Amino acid sequence: MKDLLVVGVGTMGRPYVDAAQRLGVRVRAVESEALLAHGPADPEVTYYPVANGLDESWQAGVTRAITERVPDGVLAFAEAHVLAGALAQERLGLPGPSLHAAVVSRNKALQRTGFGAYGVPQPGFVLAPGLAAARSWMLDRLPVVVKPLSLGGSEGVELVTDPAGVDEVVARRGGEGKILVEEAVRGPEYSWEALVHEGEVLFQNVTEKETTAPPYFVELSHRCGHRFTDPVVAAQVDALTAGVLRGLGMRTGLVHLEFRVGVEGPVLMEVAVRTPGDYLAEAVGLTWGFDLHEAVVRLALGLPLREALPAEPVAYAATYFPTCAPGTLTAVRGVEEVSLHPSVVRVRLRKGPGDTVGRLTSSSQRLGHVLVRAGSPEEREETLKFVADRLRFEVAG
Ligand SMILES: Nc1ncnc2c1ncn2[C@@H]1O[C@H](COP(=O)(O)OP(=O)(O)O)[C@@H](O)[C@H]1O
Ligand SMILES: [Mg+2]
Repeated sequence: MKDLLVVGVGTMGRPYVDAAQRLGVRVRAVESEALLAHGPADPEVTYYPVANGLDESWQAGVTRAITERVPDGVLAFAEAHVLAGALAQERLGLPGPSLHAAVVSRNKALQRTGFGAYGVPQPGFVLAPGLAAARSWMLDRLPVVVKPLSLGGSEGVELVTDPAGVDEVVARRGGEGKILVEEAVRGPEYSWEALVHEGEVLFQNVTEKETTAPPYFVELSHRCGHRFTDPVVAAQVDALTAGVLRGLGMRTGLVHLEFRVGVEGPVLMEVAVRTPGDYLAEAVGLTWGFDLHEAVVRLALGLPLREALPAEPVAYAATYFPTCAPGTLTAVRGVEEVSLHPSVVRVRLRKGPGDTVGRLTSSSQRLGHVLVRAGSPEEREETLKFVADRLRFEVAG
């Protein structure tokens, strides 16, 4: 029986465990202690609890698991798991993105400093030991984006538009230490999800992304199966993604890359060699009609894929994240009506009456998600509009 070690499962990693179990693979999982204390653990899975969410703590769990028994594959799930996963893959000679790709994926500054030579278009940037050292650079290039090197979910990513804002942000965040500041790129944002085997792209999808207005860029919806109709832009996007794979030294696994299309063409925001968040893996699978989770598990175990991966969408999926004004939630309306819509696959809320909602500065303040699967892009728009209209949150300020 094959043995797969999954690093971090949580809720969004669960479909990977399910896919492995369907393949008759034994699953072991490094998982956060806190999650294991709350959630119902799977009796079929052997768990290695870790104390907290730091990269190094995940590494402690991974080494315990691989010294107890050498797995046939290691699959890292989210950002904080990638390094521990890649270290184990490298050490055991197992398939994976490569240690190089994992380290670069985990550090936005290494992407900026390392990708230019591979021809990847990126925003102008400065890497400073502290924000104060970037002050004059910022003043010369407004608007700019201040960005931590290794966080996610838009946490700490902030647009600064005027000189007063520069002084304010330097005063407020000057103590954060090493930090990246970038020129702000205007233009619609997309992500690119790809399955890669030994550097070769086996499957790719473009997702159109909607975020909140500046300054915080919280992701609100994702629409999969996007096509660039302008052949020039399409070719530039192909060149950008190919350059990023070269810059990463990407070998095998899932890549999730974000870019904006500015006036001069696509510009990289960031890349990660892990599963995309926001239930995108599910939405991608629904759009292209295959089990992306199973394909990822197969790649991690070095198993052949069941079939050639699709080149045409079979449906148009989206994920939508409801939000509301800050305050205390007093009522949530329309859940049942929305759930019954034929193009709505799932409504899952994580906040309800009595819960406090904070200011929308990062993904964690969103209220839950809705997964949609429609027969055409037009039907998808109608469904998303229906969801936005009917799902209502009442808040007492
Ligand atoms: N240079 C930039 N120009 C314009 N928008 C940016 C820039 N950098 C980041 N953003 C916006 O902020 C979001 C979060 O930044 P990102 O680098 O993806 O960090 P995170 O790891 O938090 O997702 C991006 O998806 C994008 O919308
Ligand atoms: Mg991002």
